[in-house]
Order: sequence, then C-alpha cells, then structure tokens
Amino acid sequence: MSDEKAVIKLLRRMGFTSNTFLETIALVLNGEGNVVNVLPLGIKLSRGRLYARVFKGSRTYEALKKGVIRRGVICITQDAKLFYLSIFKKNEAIEAITEESACDAAVDFNVDSIHMGKEYIAIYLKPIAIRMLRKIPRGFSRAPALIIEALVWLTKLPYVDEIKRREYISYIRYCIEGIYRSSKSRVYRNIAKEIYEALHTKAT
Ligand SMILES: Cc1cc2nc3c(=O)[nH]c(=O)nc-3n(C[C@H](O)[C@H](O)[C@H](O)COP(=O)(O)O)c2cc1C
Repeated sequence: MSDEKAVIKLLRRMGFTSNTFLETIALVLNGEGNVVNVLPLGIKLSRGRLYARVFKGSRTYEALKKGVIRRGVICITQDAKLFYLSIFKKNEAIEAITEESACDAAVDFNVDSIHMGKEYIAIYLKPIAIRMLRKIPRGFSRAPALIIEALVWLTKLPYVDEIKRREYISYIRYCIEGIYRSSKSRVYRNIAKEIYEALHTKAT
C-alpha cells in the first residue's frame, strides 16, 4: 500500500498514535540504499510523519549528525529475539529484516527532516509504503514483553548516575526472573542469560 493517506490510516490501525511511542526496529540506509545500522526505536505519529528521538551516544546518532542516513525500513514486530539481535548481534538482525520474514509488517520511509537537540536528534520520517508480511498472528506471552522491557533498561544504563543505575539493574533483574518464570523457551532463556551477563561485563 503506498497512497499517503491510506498508509497513515493503516499505521493508526496498527497502533501508532501521536502521544505514545510504539517500539519498532529501524533498519537505516544511506542514499544509495546500503545498510548503515539497525536499532530498536520508539516511534510516534506527528502530522503525517513518523517521529523518533535518537539519543546521544549511539552510532545511529553519529550517522544522523553526519547526514549519512537518508531512508530506511521500520520493522513492526513482536519478536523479542529480533529486538535482542538488533542490539547484540546487529548483522543477524540486518539479515533477518532484509529477508523480510522477520517482520509482521515493514514501512519504507524517507528521512524528511532532522533536528539537533541537546540530548537527542529528533527525526521526522515520511512513510512511503507499507508491506504486510505476517499472515499467522502470534499469541501473547509475557516472556517477549519482559525481554523488551529488560533491553530498554539495559540500553539506558550507560547514560545514568549510580543511583539510577542500581534502580535500573533491579528492574532488569525483575524482568529476567519473570522471563524464567513465564517461559521454558531456550531462546528466551539464553537471551535472559546474555542480558544478565551484560550487567556484569560492559555497559551496552
Ligand atoms: C524497545 C527499545 C526501544 C528503544 N528506543 C530507542 C529510541 O527511541 N531512541 C534511541 O536513541 N534508542 C532507543 N533504544 C536504545 C537503542 O536501540 C540502543 O541503544 C542501540 O543499541 C543503539 O544502537 P547504535 O549504537 O548501533 O546506534 C531502544 C531500545 C529498546 C530495547
């Protein structure tokens, strides 16, 4: 689907709103269509555009600052493993998203404008087309939701002081416990283990 108004209407039906961020995975490309990066990204709708904030300290922030990122694909998915890959094993995430099977839907976009802020760069993306890719819906499980929650806190850790750091680590531990309690999946448990190990090695 590529008619602009129809694309926005469909985005609203998929849960995008103007006042809350929906968690997605963004594959960002340069002007030639080559992959620059992949990252989990919160998106909301703003006056016919997708709006996101890319925080200082990330590689995506640096690439945006240099004007390298011109377009991309927003992958809409509930697949917690894909969120994990797009932080820990980016090449695997890029491959999965490029193959298309990994996303429930894919939104092609052009970067419309970027605005330098103090802590982040605000970007407005013009949605060009939506491709619906998943035919069989997934059932809800707490484990993937907890993985995404743990990843959100984990990726904030490098930017906070010691008090907040301890608070966030306790949230992550709570999520990890929940993952073990709510699922026997080896994939989810291994991700939980890797998140736990990341707490004790480097700050992601
Ligand atoms: C669910 C989820 C949503 C996220 N949303 C954002 C966001 O909106 N903006 C942002 O800058 N980082 C966000 N992050 C953190 C980045 O995705 C993370 O720091 C990533 O590793 C940055 O990659 P890079 O350094 O290769 O650019 C999010 C993380 C998760 C798990």
